[in-house]
Amino acid sequence: MKINIKPESLKALKSFNLPEKLEFGKCLVPVMIKAEFKNGTWGELELIPYGTLDLDPCSKVLHYGQEIFEGMKAYKNSQGEVNLFRPLENFKRFNFSARRMAMPEVSQEFFIGGIETLVQHCKDFIPTQEGHSLYMRPMMIATEVGLGIKPAEEFMFLIVASPSGSYFKQDNVKVFIERNFTRAAPGGMGSAKTGGNYAGSLIADKINREKGFHQTMWLDAVSRTYVEEMSGMNFFAVINGELYTPPLSNTILAGITRDSVLTLAKNMGIKTHEEKINVNTLRSQIRFGECSEAFVCGTAAIITPIESLTDGNEVYELKNPKGRIALEIKNQMLSIQAQKCEGPAGWIHKINC
Ligand code: COI
Repeated sequence: MKINIKPESLKALKSFNLPEKLEFGKCLVPVMIKAEFKNGTWGELELIPYGTLDLDPCSKVLHYGQEIFEGMKAYKNSQGEVNLFRPLENFKRFNFSARRMAMPEVSQEFFIGGIETLVQHCKDFIPTQEGHSLYMRPMMIATEVGLGIKPAEEFMFLIVASPSGSYFKQDNVKVFIERNFTRAAPGGMGSAKTGGNYAGSLIADKINREKGFHQTMWLDAVSRTYVEEMSGMNFFAVINGELYTPPLSNTILAGITRDSVLTLAKNMGIKTHEEKINVNTLRSQIRFGECSEAFVCGTAAIITPIESLTDGNEVYELKNPKGRIALEIKNQMLSIQAQKCEGPAGWIHKINC
């Protein structure tokens, strides 16, 4: 894939230094990838200096939220070799989200080519501490100008990258079971990675955060009984030594980490179940110690144990609040990503830097 490397971007890279302390998504590399879609076709990908966008106030994304994104990471191993973790899954999910949001798809060459070029130019800014990485956000926004509500015909594709540390500041999280708001309804867009799903979750997040919780657990919008996900993270519970997670549906984002956890657990001899989880049953399983641990997982969150689940005023504390099986799976995943051990075929995508 031919990518237009703008000379100003090479200049910007020369004067950039990686800060000593990295938080999640705060520091951005000084370059980004950009392409525009017009007249039914994608224009060339460009590597340009990171900067603000020139957007008309009537661009459809600003009014109707027609946008999608991905979250993916590049890692550097102890020999200085660089790799991506399961990038084809991000590519496939990006196009899945594009179809759901009436946006144009991109080719594999275009998506992976853009990511590879950005990573190749930013190889010196990939942090190597455990749990650190170069977190990347490919995204597409509707740029067509006009206030009519119809799918746009002009779009912008961008990839930005952030050398990042852990998503959570603490080792485990306190979760609040949301009984008032819901995240996604059947037939809606809950399984697409689009900003509206996150925007709609923020009010509950704000209220629950003020009460001292780190995450909101969403229940299904129809019966308000079954666990769905956490907005940005999928949910797992260890019940009688076996691993349970809700089955995928059009109200749950198909996490790539979720899929990786299921595969690794099976390889470790742990029985896995993709089954509906009744939140009331789960509460008593925690009370009686049958559910020994639970955790959230996602690209950003990796795998983070849950300390407690709170329903109204009732607190359900997990027997293993720091996780046991969660940490075994997490260590296995981090070792594969750091190429300290072999993972399942096709998970590591090496990049020639
Ligand atoms: C990711 O894990 O990449 C996400 O996009 C989730 C977000 C909460 C950071």
